[in-house]
Amino acid sequence: MSDHTDERQQGARDTDDTADADRSLRPDGGTAAGADDVTLDPWGSSTVEDYRKLFEQFGIEEFDDLLPDVPNPHYLMRRGVIFGHREYRRVLEAMANDEPAAVLSGFMPTGDPHIGHKLVFDEIIWHQRQGLDAYGLIADLEAHAARGLSWAEIDEHSRDYLLSLLALGFDPEEGELYRQSENRPLQDLAFELGVKANYSELEAIYGFDGETDVSHMQSVVTQMADICYPQLDEPKPTVIPVGPDQDPHVRLSRDLASRMRFFGVTEAYASFEVDDEERAVVANAFDALAERAADADGDVTVRCLDAAVLVDEGVEAVDFADRPRMDQYEAGDSEASDPEARVAAKLANAGMEPLRPRVRFLDRNATPEAFEALVEAIDGEKRVFDEHVDAFDLAHDAAEELAREVEVDNGGYGFVPPSSIYHRFMTGLTGGKMSSSIPASHISLLDDPADGYDKVKSATTGGRETAEKQRELGGKVDECPVYELYAYLLAQDDDDLTREVYEECVGGERLCGGCKEQAAELMRDFLEDHQEKRAEAEELLESLDVELESSRR
Ligand code: TRP
Ligand code: SF4
Repeated sequence: MSDHTDERQQGARDTDDTADADRSLRPDGGTAAGADDVTLDPWGSSTVEDYRKLFEQFGIEEFDDLLPDVPNPHYLMRRGVIFGHREYRRVLEAMANDEPAAVLSGFMPTGDPHIGHKLVFDEIIWHQRQGLDAYGLIADLEAHAARGLSWAEIDEHSRDYLLSLLALGFDPEEGELYRQSENRPLQDLAFELGVKANYSELEAIYGFDGETDVSHMQSVVTQMADICYPQLDEPKPTVIPVGPDQDPHVRLSRDLASRMRFFGVTEAYASFEVDDEERAVVANAFDALAERAADADGDVTVRCLDAAVLVDEGVEAVDFADRPRMDQYEAGDSEASDPEARVAAKLANAGMEPLRPRVRFLDRNATPEAFEALVEAIDGEKRVFDEHVDAFDLAHDAAEELAREVEVDNGGYGFVPPSSIYHRFMTGLTGGKMSSSIPASHISLLDDPADGYDKVKSATTGGRETAEKQRELGGKVDECPVYELYAYLLAQDDDDLTREVYEECVGGERLCGGCKEQAAELMRDFLEDHQEKRAEAEELLESLDVELESSRR
């Protein structure tokens, strides 16, 4: 092996952004192909060329940062296939504390379920086995509206998705399967969420225009409802495992979920409102002044004017005993782009008002009764205004909890913002994108095992032109769809096999012919086994409360 070390380093492109991860397990060595094109379009056909951009441009967070805190992580997590998340920590915490949590994902029944969908099936099932409430849904309204499939076609494909999900181990006793079209509470929730979204927003997010049909838009609010559906009984952290193309949906659902809330909870220091940047400035000023006040003689009340002076002229200029005259003191500029200037203006304007940290409950959608109930429920000192309440003896977290409790007790949903995890797309077997419309590019879970075998045998590889070169340079494993098959599916839980393929490939000990033969056999076995399990799941499916023949036309 040692004489291949140099080649190996060439083969595995080095980046330092996955420093802690076991790179040999990573389907692309922990990095991603170079091109710059990042678009997130749920109905487009775009691939993601550079996953790192998703972190910067869209605020998706790196999954690797959480990995050490995931108990028994799934192999898709260990191998970096699941690469990103939004607030997944919420779900991990619920898991760790045995609190309620849910997992939900959905499938548009536009064709056969294929090995790309299997990733999502596996993610749902893994979470179900960790004890989460699990939901799998068929996005048939979306398939009808956004893709124009007939109900007969949709029925056929829906059945196939459900069978594969069951065959892979989804437990319908413990979880729920549904079709959008048959779920009335879901559609009612979609209607309510739709009240909080307007056309311009859909236009901005999805590029909808005057030609977009109304049912397509309805399918968007239906998906928003899907994502919040696990919380209909009670609010709980919910993870939505999807590809990054679905992130626009996740972001909108997080917004809508929070717009539905009765109360917003923020931190404030005085009667005026501040944004996050301004709050940081006030917080610093307050801390400095509190310290000086504690050192001063006698009882000093820190006032907004003191903070205005501090922000405007520096801490030395503050003199509690000799404040400037409020009606003559002007500081800052409320229109400035600089948060310090804006804050100074607000502080000067508030003048002799005491500066005191507090949590503020803003009335967003509360009924008068709920607002009353909140005021009642706040312990300690509080001040009640028309559209907000300030509480002086409550920590932020406790305030959040209280707001949710009062909301739920008074008929609200109290939604927790949904979390998400994102997996990489598989490369097509023919190179390029894996697409349901190019049969040779993907393997359907319904493919004849012999065809599955053949497709793997004819797949593109990262191999060199000749065996000799391969031995010398090693294979380009990071660009090899066959290696991906091992990592995403064929090796299953066996990290040793994944590592072996990777290292032997980059070390030049593995040649593509044999490597593909091994993969093709594993694929054939997998398909045989899966299809047997599908046949066994037929009966179970029939016994479930899922409509298999649509009453729609
Ligand atoms: N839009 C998804 C797709 O194109 C399907 C979907 C519908 C979905 N509702 C969902 C995915 C809720 C995740 C969560 O495949
Ligand atoms: Fe891909 Fe296997 Fe060839 Fe390496 S040896 S390039 S992993 S097919």
